[in-house]
Amino acid sequence: MRKKIVAGNWKMNNNKAETDQLIAALKAKGSFTGVEVKVAPTSIHLAQAVETLSDSAIEVIGQNMHQATNGAYTGEISAVMLQSVGVNSVILGHSERRAYFNETDEALEEKVASAVKQDMEVVFCFGEELEDRQSEQHFQVVEDQLHKALFSLPHTAWEKIVLAYEPVWAIGTGETASPEQAQEMHAFIRGLVAQNFDENIAENVAILYGGSVKPANAQEIFSKPDVDGGLIGGAALNADDFFAIVQSI
Ligand code: PGA
Repeated sequence: MRKKIVAGNWKMNNNKAETDQLIAALKAKGSFTGVEVKVAPTSIHLAQAVETLSDSAIEVIGQNMHQATNGAYTGEISAVMLQSVGVNSVILGHSERRAYFNETDEALEEKVASAVKQDMEVVFCFGEELEDRQSEQHFQVVEDQLHKALFSLPHTAWEKIVLAYEPVWAIGTGETASPEQAQEMHAFIRGLVAQNFDENIAENVAILYGGSVKPANAQEIFSKPDVDGGLIGGAALNADDFFAIVQSI
């Protein structure tokens, strides 16, 4: 049985005190079963979050990392740095990193390879823009993104890969892919992994959906057979909403 995962991407939100408050509110919600729950605070709050969540099943993950281990890369952090504060999983390829920080598929290939080499889990994000969907290029765009960044990985690396399909037109817009659109794309993605690797890897890789997931729509999206959970932005900043989504799985 493949994993079910709900991950909260806090993006560039919450100062130190707010980070503590949100974590306390999440812990107060109590336990959950049958799902891995992860939260991604901003990098300067990772160590603090790892400490305050050390007695909880909620895992702390990074929002980004550089591909090099160390060196003259002002403002960046590496996999070994994340690991040194107890973070063993990282989001890579988020559409905001691609759009605002010029992250290319080539750079992402290096980042993924570097993370996997360090034995980190990667939550790899990808997805088409509105014009791609309108021109019916969405399957091709997704295939290209996966091909360029992931398909040169060795088979063994897939134990560490979680996929997150996030159509850009649905992120932070209130616009969600319909459960049918999500299922159609997730099944396509699983098929690509089977074609390029093998059935077993495809069957076991968790594919999350991201883009305006809320308590009101989570259950229907998560009920689809190839949707294994969600990557949550806005709704992850509210403990009640995030927990309601976790419980929808
Ligand atoms: P959203 O963000 O839930 O606010 O649409 C999702 C994401 O960016 O991962």
